[in-house]
Amino acid sequence: MYNAFFGFKQSPFNLSPDPAFLFRSPQHDEALANLIYGVQSRKGFIVLTGEVGTGKTTMLECLRDYLYSQQIAFASLFNSRLTVEQFFEMLAYDLDLRCNRLSKTEVLLGLNGMLLERAGAGRTTVLIVDEAHNLEWDVLEEIRLLGNLENRRGKLLQIVLAGQQELDRKLLAPDYRQLKQRIALRCSLRPFDRYETAAYVDSRMARAGLPEQRVFSSELIEEVHFRAQGIPRVINAICDNLLLTAFALETKSATFEMLDEVTADMRLEYPGRSPLHTGEAYPETHFPGFPAATQRD
Ligand SMILES: Nc1ncnc2c1ncn2[C@@H]1O[C@H](COP(=O)(O)OP(=O)(O)OP(=O)(O)O)[C@@H](O)[C@H]1O
Ligand SMILES: [Mg+2]
Repeated sequence: MYNAFFGFKQSPFNLSPDPAFLFRSPQHDEALANLIYGVQSRKGFIVLTGEVGTGKTTMLECLRDYLYSQQIAFASLFNSRLTVEQFFEMLAYDLDLRCNRLSKTEVLLGLNGMLLERAGAGRTTVLIVDEAHNLEWDVLEEIRLLGNLENRRGKLLQIVLAGQQELDRKLLAPDYRQLKQRIALRCSLRPFDRYETAAYVDSRMARAGLPEQRVFSSELIEEVHFRAQGIPRVINAICDNLLLTAFALETKSATFEMLDEVTADMRLEYPGRSPLHTGEAYPETHFPGFPAATQRD
């Protein structure tokens, strides 16, 4: 709605996990490198955890792009509230297994054949499960068993489980011990620090078409960071609403008053008041420096 007014080619703060807007913060970069390394080196189980809205699905989208580019076959389950039967049906559907998809035995036979054939040709196959913290125990157990399939060169199926921190807690339970032992790689995402938030906002604005944005002052971004608690999804929602408000008022710079209104409308809860509001200075910290507009490989 406001794109033409500000001169954006695309909306900068969409809530979708779009790899085109990827901001390569060190932790996101590391998580993606780990996911790719884990798959390439046939590590078996890889787990990605993080707080709500910190970028897990975005990382999986980037991984999917990579797998496409390398012609690596994969199945990805984004709805993890599945029964065992539904799980096998979806797996067969995603991997295009030519068998009776409603029969677990047939799916397993088809999968085994496919994995062995692909492994024989030096190719790997990947199963990606998002929202894995929602998986029922019996489905997780089936996934663990799939993770056991191997030949002498490594695991036949690389399994990426991504989920909220409950997934870590779930894997600590005695029932999940066997699975936990098999996890070869773990990575996690945390909320941004204030410098990452500033670089993140600039990066999204640049990618949308405003490389040297002046809509958000650095003080305002600090306050956005504080109120969003460094969570990318919340930062996006606040900034999008700020742009909308500024557009409605026909101004190209967002203000603290607009921020108050936006966060009140969002019923946003954040602890106490930020140093900016109390007049205290933030402690001096070195700015690590991020590229303003991030490039994807
Ligand atoms: N590194 C990043 N670069 C660009 N955008 C990001 C990044 N991290 C998160 N985002 C943005 O934040 C929002 C939330 O990201 P995402 O959906 O990937 O989070 P999530 O961890 O999967 O959340 P949930 O726990 O609810 O599943 C999206 O709009 C996404 O584009
Ligand atoms: Mg997600």
